[in-house]
Amino acid sequence: MNIMSGMPEQSDATARTLEAMKHIVETGNSEWRSLPPHAYRSQEIFDLEKEKIFRPGWILLGRPDMVPNAGDFVSIDVIDEPLVMVRDKAGKLRVLSRVCRHRWAPVCDGAGNTSSFVCPYHAWAFNLDGSLRNAPGMEDTPNFKPEEMGLFEVRHEIWQGFVFINLDGKAQSLTERMAPIVDEIKEFRLSEWKLVRSRDYGECPWDWKVFMDNGECYHHIGAHKDTFEIDFPGLESWDSPNNGNYVLTWCRSRPTSVVKSTAGEDVVSPLFSSDIMPGLTETQRLNLCLIYVFPNYFINPWPDITYYVRMFPLGPGRIRMILDYLVPPHMEDGPELQKKLDELEVFVNKFNDEDTAVCTFVQRGVQSTKAIPAPLSRCEGLNRDFALWVSRQMTA
Ligand code: FES
Ligand SMILES: [Fe+2]
Repeated sequence: MNIMSGMPEQSDATARTLEAMKHIVETGNSEWRSLPPHAYRSQEIFDLEKEKIFRPGWILLGRPDMVPNAGDFVSIDVIDEPLVMVRDKAGKLRVLSRVCRHRWAPVCDGAGNTSSFVCPYHAWAFNLDGSLRNAPGMEDTPNFKPEEMGLFEVRHEIWQGFVFINLDGKAQSLTERMAPIVDEIKEFRLSEWKLVRSRDYGECPWDWKVFMDNGECYHHIGAHKDTFEIDFPGLESWDSPNNGNYVLTWCRSRPTSVVKSTAGEDVVSPLFSSDIMPGLTETQRLNLCLIYVFPNYFINPWPDITYYVRMFPLGPGRIRMILDYLVPPHMEDGPELQKKLDELEVFVNKFNDEDTAVCTFVQRGVQSTKAIPAPLSRCEGLNRDFALWVSRQMTA
């Protein structure tokens, strides 16, 4: 412990990793290098990431339609924060801390519909807007002010129909931060799509940065040679210019993979339905589109279906991963659509197995003394920009 700063002393390995990150920042990562492998396995680095990346950043939580009606709630843990996304009585979406203002028990768990949150420990009751409704036996406690004892609210912002939170409440507006990307994706009208299924993959044994790194299309030529590479050759991918807060990657489809949509437009073989989202540009119809908003948001909008991942770090080398499916607003949910989703999930599980295999062996690889910072290919602009973004946050 450093007595002056109150911070734990850093190990030599952490000091070296932060030095390498400083170099990446100073050069703008013009040398196209990955982060040091130590960053993917270190508890010290993860503790720093909580303070430098996750509390000050914008974290994807979900979609507003996860809580469509007053009283609907969904519990989600983000880093060390037990949270609940709830629709209050007035219809306002709120993100509240689940930590009871008495002695810190979680006031709810799971998901459902309720008229209030009643703590399971000593039965304090909170309204859906977080305010304290009832605290039995507290009348004689000195200086106890019920009006100041509500659940803490966490700042949130809705961008393109997704709910993001900012734990320290000080970040630049996400809408401002993401302004440059909107021109290239606005025709998807992502805020109008409907959530039709979620698949919780639970705890996965790789670091959140291994997950983000794995977003490049370069690995189509190896890991996905029997799935994505068939329609989208990995060496045919490129990134749009960005402002450092996100990456927008495209991967060109093979001419042989292009078919006609129901409306007669050229479109890359639909995953789900030929009745695609109307109004998309040719670029959006003919290329794979991948959007990464650092640190935890990944979405892959197709012309006919969209899936995105909610990824929550649990520790160095451990994440929880949930995949959600959205369909265009003109598609009706029901048994027919759910049956088609079952079929789609066979494909998704196949490529997810491929990604699981590579992320698992990469996480093993970063433990090795022979693992050193990696040179990146022209198809790994995501990795270059992500390493630069992480380095900037960690050394600021
Ligand atoms: S901890 Fe919640 S009422 Fe005591
Ligand atoms: Fe992959």
